[in-house]
Amino acid sequence: VTEYLPALALGYLLGSIPFGLLLAAMLGKGDLRTIGSGNIGATNALRAGGKGLGAAVLFLDALKGAAAVLIARHFLPDGPMEHGAEIFAATGAFVGHLYPVWLKFKGGKGVATFFGILIALLPVAALVAALVWVGLFLITRISSVGGLGSAISAPMTAAFMGAEPYFGMLLGFTLLILWKHRDNIRRLRAGEEKRFSARREETR
Ligand code: G3P
Repeated sequence: VTEYLPALALGYLLGSIPFGLLLAAMLGKGDLRTIGSGNIGATNALRAGGKGLGAAVLFLDALKGAAAVLIARHFLPDGPMEHGAEIFAATGAFVGHLYPVWLKFKGGKGVATFFGILIALLPVAALVAALVWVGLFLITRISSVGGLGSAISAPMTAAFMGAEPYFGMLLGFTLLILWKHRDNIRRLRAGEEKRFSARREETR
């Protein structure tokens, strides 16, 4: 594993940049950790600062995941494991987003960064995940439902595609996303999870 430390560290450094928190603070929208769900991701950035901020955070949180994979692919040696550098960089980025040392390990829920990693590793799985997200969101108007569904779809798509080197990692990411959404899941079960209205304003 030691030979994959550079890939892991590179991924972690990129993944742990809390774009949501930084952008919202820079734009004077406050500390996302004290607004809405308290999450530092795109959904809560949208609540705090509107569509533009939400889209920017979604893009940057996805980009850091994709960038980690692409930099590893082009600049780091693969080592003994097939796609080893990419897998370790992706893992570093994902874990960095969820558990950033800079925020006392209290990071985001992983959906956007997972999506960025998928775009770089398995674009077909990214497309399926995006369609699942949009479909579930249009039906429920609840972001976490879209995020959970799309996360579950990814290892399934990878399995269907026979993308063996990535399957275990993606399954691990999905389990972490489920774990990070445990409060959302509890609220969903209690019928208390917030919906977005058709005009994208938060309602009960
Ligand atoms: O990706 C996060 C999303 O699934 C839920 O975000 O802020 O509603 O907990 P939030």
